Amino acid sequence: MKIDIIISASDVKEEKLKGKVVVVIDVLRATSVMVTALNNGVKEVIPVKEIEEALEIVKGEREKYLLGGERNALKIEGFDYSNSPLDYTKDNVKDKTLVMTTSNGTKAIKNSESADHIYIASMINAKAVAKKLASINKDVVFVNAGTQGEFSIDDFITSGYIIELIKGLASVELTDISITSNYIYKNNEDIFTFVKYATHYNRIKELGLEDDLKYCLTKDIIDLVPEYKDNKIKA
Ligand code: MLT
Repeated sequence: MKIDIIISASDVKEEKLKGKVVVVIDVLRATSVMVTALNNGVKEVIPVKEIEEALEIVKGEREKYLLGGERNALKIEGFDYSNSPLDYTKDNVKDKTLVMTTSNGTKAIKNSESADHIYIASMINAKAVAKKLASINKDVVFVNAGTQGEFSIDDFITSGYIIELIKGLASVELTDISITSNYIYKNNEDIFTFVKYATHYNRIKELGLEDDLKYCLTKDIIDLVPEYKDNKIKA
C-alpha cells in the first residue's frame, strides 16, 4: 500500500486522488467534531463549504437539523453549535442531521470528491482508521485540511500516528512526506511537545479552549470510521 500526504485543502489536485482511498484529517477541530457527533448519535453530517449553502439546506425544516461549524474558530451567527467537539453531546445531537461548514475541514472533504473512498479521521479514531485502511489495502492519500491554505503541524503529526499504526498491520510504501510525518510522530509520541508550535493550536489556546485541545489530541477513544459518500458523512 502506497501512502502519500497532501498538506492542505487548497493543495488538493483531482488527479492525485483518482482511484485512491482518501483520509481527510482536520484534527483541530472539524474531523474531531464529525467523529464525536456521529459517535453520539447524529444520523449524518452534511459538510458544505459556505455558510449560505448550510442555511439553504435547513430552510423550511429547521427543527430537523443542527447547524455547526466556525469562522475564525468562532461560532457562526444563527448556528446551533460552534466547532467545539465538546458541544456535540448525546443530549444535543441524537437523531439529528448536522449541517457543518468550517474554514478548512469541510473544504478538504469537498475538494477530495474525485477519490474512490473518503474516510474521516482524527486522533480520537486513529486506530479504527488504521485497521480499516489495512483491511482495504489500497493506495492511500491523507488529505490534511491545514490552516488557511497552509501546512499545519497538528494534521501532519496525526497522519504520522496513523501511518505508524498501519505499519504494524500491513506492508507500506511511504513517500518522502509520509516518512517525514511518521518521523515527527515517532519523535513526539505525546503529541503536545510538538503540536504546541502549531499556529492553529495557539489560536484555540488563546480563545481559552484548552479542553478542546486536550480532547482532540487524545488517541483512540472512538472506534468508528465515518465515510463521506453522496454528499453525506455516515458512521
Ligand atoms: C477548520 O475547518 O478550519 C477548523 O476545524 C477550525 C477550527 O478549529 O474551528
